[in-house]
Amino acid sequence: MKDGHLPVLAVEVVTMLAPAPGSLQLDATVGGGGHTERILEATDPDGRLLGLDADGAAIARVDHRLRGRFRDRLVLRQANFRELASVAPEAGFASIDGALFDLGLSSFQLADTERGFGIRAGGPLDMRFDPARGVPAADLLATLDAAELTALFRRFGEEPSAARIARAIVAARRTAPVRTAEELAALVERVAPHAPRGRRRIHPATRVFQALRIAVNAELEALEAGLAAAVDLLRPGGRLVVLSYHSLEDRIVKRFIAAERRGCTCPPEVPVCVCGRNPRLRFVTRPSLIPSADEIASNPRARSARLRAAERIAA
Ligand SMILES: C[S@@+](CC[C@H](N)C(=O)[O-])C[C@H]1O[C@@H](n2cnc3c(N)ncnc32)[C@H](O)[C@@H]1O
Repeated sequence: MKDGHLPVLAVEVVTMLAPAPGSLQLDATVGGGGHTERILEATDPDGRLLGLDADGAAIARVDHRLRGRFRDRLVLRQANFRELASVAPEAGFASIDGALFDLGLSSFQLADTERGFGIRAGGPLDMRFDPARGVPAADLLATLDAAELTALFRRFGEEPSAARIARAIVAARRTAPVRTAEELAALVERVAPHAPRGRRRIHPATRVFQALRIAVNAELEALEAGLAAAVDLLRPGGRLVVLSYHSLEDRIVKRFIAAERRGCTCPPEVPVCVCGRNPRLRFVTRPSLIPSADEIASNPRARSARLRAAERIAA
C-alpha cells in the first residue's frame, strides 16, 4: 500500500495529549506508528514513549521504521492493552503523562490477504490481532449454533439480518464450512438486503465482519480493562485520548469517562456517599471531535472516527 496507514486526527491527538519534552507517553495501539512518531517529535529531545500492539507484525514494522530515529526513547512491546497494568510498570512506565488508544484495525491489517480482516482483501478468515492467541473467526463460524451466531452478529454488529445470516451459515456448513472472507462476503450478499438507495453504500457484510472481529479479539472487554489501567497509570494533569470508530466502542469510552468524572458509585437513594470513590477525570474536549470533510476526503478510514479526551485530576 502506497501510504501505509495514515494517522487519523493526528494534529488533534497531539493537541489534546499536549505531550511535553521529558514526559512519559503511552501509545496503546501503535499500528503503523503514525501517532507514535508525532508524539515522539513533540516530546523531543528526551520524552519517551511505550508503544503496544497485540499484533507482532505491527511492532516489527514500527521498530524497523522508527528505531534509527528515536533510539531508546521508543520502547515497544507486543502486548494486548488489557494487560497494561502489568506490562507498563515492567517496561519502566509505572506512571505516565499521556495515553492514546486508537481503536480497531490498521490499513496494513485490512489489506493483508492472509488474515481475512478485509472484505475486499479476502483470505482465510482468521481476524486475530495476535495470531498466537484465541481462535480464528472461521472456527466460530464452524462451531457456534444459529442462536449463538445470531446473538454475536446482533451484539457486536447491530446487524438487522442477524438471524437470517446465521441460519444461512449453519445451512452452508452442512456441505462445506465458510472458511474465507470471500465466501462469507458472498453468503451475506446473497441473503441480506442491500442498503436502501440513497444511503451511503457500504458492503452488506460490513457489520458481520465487524462483529466477528470484535468477538475474536474480545475487543470490548479489552477496551474496558485498558482504559481503567491507563487512568490508574496517569499522573495528575496527564491526558487520556481515545479514537473510536463505531458506536459500541464510543459508548464504552463515553460511559467510562462519565463514571470517572462522577467518582461516587452510590445509588441515588443513599443520602451520603459510602463508596468513597472520588472523581479522577475531567473533560478536555466536550462532547467529542470528529474529522473535517477535508481529512475524510483524503483518508476515508477517518469517516467514522470520534475523539474523546480527558485529564487526570488528583483523586
Ligand atoms: C487503528 S490502528 C492504530 C494506528 C496507529 N495509531 C497509527 O497511527 O498508525 C489499531 C491498532 O491497534 C491494535 N490493537 C487493537 N486492539 C488492541 C488491543 N486490545 N491491544 C493491543 N493492540 C490492539 C491493532 O492490532 C492495530 O494495529
